[in-house]
Amino acid sequence: MCGIVGYIGKENAVPILLEGLKKLEYRGYDSAGIAVMTDGVITVRKKKGRIQQLQDLIDQEAGADNAGEHCGIGHTRWATHGEPSDVNAHPHTNQSGTIAVVHNGIIENYMQLRERMGRRGFTCVSETDSEVIAHMLEYYGTGNPIETIRKVTDRLEGSYALAVLFKEYPNRIYCVRKDSPMVIGQAPDGFYIASDAPAILTHTRDVYYPEHGEIAEISESGILFFDEDAQIVEKETIHLELKEDAADKGNYEHFMMKEIQEQPQAIGMLLGHYLQEEGKEDMQKLRELLSTCSRLHIVACGSAYHAGMTGKYLIENLAGVAVEVELASEFRYRRPVLNEGEVVLVISQSGETADTVAALREAKVRGCRTMAIVNAQGSTIARESDLVLYTYAGPEISVATTKGYSTQLVVLDLIAVELASLKERITDAEKNKLHGELMQIPAKIRQILEHKEKLQRAANECAGKKQVFFIGRSLDYTLALEAALKLKEISYIHAEAYAAGELKHGTIALIEQDSLVVAIETQQELYDKIHSNIVEVQSRGAKIFAVGFEAAKKEKETLELEYRIPEIQPFFAPSLAIIPFQLFAYYISVAKGIDVDKPRNLAKSVTVE
Ligand code: F6R
Repeated sequence: MCGIVGYIGKENAVPILLEGLKKLEYRGYDSAGIAVMTDGVITVRKKKGRIQQLQDLIDQEAGADNAGEHCGIGHTRWATHGEPSDVNAHPHTNQSGTIAVVHNGIIENYMQLRERMGRRGFTCVSETDSEVIAHMLEYYGTGNPIETIRKVTDRLEGSYALAVLFKEYPNRIYCVRKDSPMVIGQAPDGFYIASDAPAILTHTRDVYYPEHGEIAEISESGILFFDEDAQIVEKETIHLELKEDAADKGNYEHFMMKEIQEQPQAIGMLLGHYLQEEGKEDMQKLRELLSTCSRLHIVACGSAYHAGMTGKYLIENLAGVAVEVELASEFRYRRPVLNEGEVVLVISQSGETADTVAALREAKVRGCRTMAIVNAQGSTIARESDLVLYTYAGPEISVATTKGYSTQLVVLDLIAVELASLKERITDAEKNKLHGELMQIPAKIRQILEHKEKLQRAANECAGKKQVFFIGRSLDYTLALEAALKLKEISYIHAEAYAAGELKHGTIALIEQDSLVVAIETQQELYDKIHSNIVEVQSRGAKIFAVGFEAAKKEKETLELEYRIPEIQPFFAPSLAIIPFQLFAYYISVAKGIDVDKPRNLAKSVTVE
């Protein structure tokens, strides 16, 4: 994962680098560091922990006057090779400190490279897969930085976005990438480098996206791109129309709560876009793409995969089109059967998840038509898909997705309805009625949010649990997958989702006195079935937390905890039923004193496989 930044220009580089790193902290927060070059001297400052710790280190440095530093690179790390520590933090340097490098990606052959460089007298002090690059840049030095970088990258296997400072070539930053994202912004005061466009939007919207293998040489006055034969490539800037939403918590204690609360507005805007004039063109393109679609493959990771599961159940039910849902990490290596006329739909909030990007590329290589549901505008997936349906949720900062996921669900609802109409499974009047139901989602979410104290009470009662079982059937099962993930990632409580009918095939052996079983009940035709499953676990001592429609409640039923959501067409129930689970997980996390927005071991954007 990790995020890289760089700046060269008229302004003071240090605050710009720190500000960029803060915006990229979602990519990892195990350590951070910067390297600046002044009068041909490279100074590195790096620290285990959050960017704030790096900032404190810089502030504490006696006489830390960095006003004269106009050129630098920076890094925020999500540890892959080597524990989070000062020494494993980037930037990494060669032994004499004349070269500094920051790296996002994974060097797969780093062990061989380290051994080879070791035999030549270059010893790595860190455990990372990145440091060896700094030594190689010294060893393979040719007197020409472009040739040197090419000699090194030719020997790297894996993925990388690199920014490099050489003492020998002062006041320049060199960048190169392969399979890891990088954007270079051009502003009146200089050039800004980042892993992701939102990190530089306050400074410029005119950007370059370097292609794989292109090397950029950036000085205060200009930028040159070199192709694989060291020939200069002419490149035009792209003007980004992205909205710059300040990553500001406002009055909320955590981004997660702010983002939970933003869901009615985000979904309202999304529906407003696609159901009105603005979104007509996207819907037309969708119809064209899907008109001959015999089978849809949905590919994604994590919560986006869970949204895809819900999409499968909906699309198959409403439109009668076969849907396969697959984890991107499996899809990319499994050689799935892909036939002519099939469409691959990838789902990704960030648009940068490495496995999902790779799956999209695999689908294209295999000749499939592709589409994507993406939140981050201008992201790799958005740029590379044949059709993009944006979720327009705005930036999501909290590591645990909330509005990112719920807006994906609504786009899938729209696709299901559109496909059902295309396949003439519903009339225009039925389509309008379904759209009318969708339009009610924002107001109904607001109703749930007004009663969040009930979920806080439930959370306080359950915070001490060691494990929680989530059960549901049909769409409720697909929702249970997401509800369980939400809980485990921010509360560290072991939670698993089961199709309720599967319990008896093994899992029920885990149920004992006081086990907490969360039962989801929004699918009317399955109420009796889920009730039987509730009774089965209750008779083995389990305590039940039921979440669903009021109508699902059985007379004389004993439930330890329950939360009732407003009625809606059951196809769209997941959009409402997820909200109590987001709040439940949030409040447990707070009760346990966990860093809700940045839970341990995670990063917002998983840019390594
Ligand atoms: C969980 C979560 C992750 C992401 C997954 C995919 O709360 O956020 O499971 O859903 O890493 O990320 P995107 O959607 O950015 O591809």
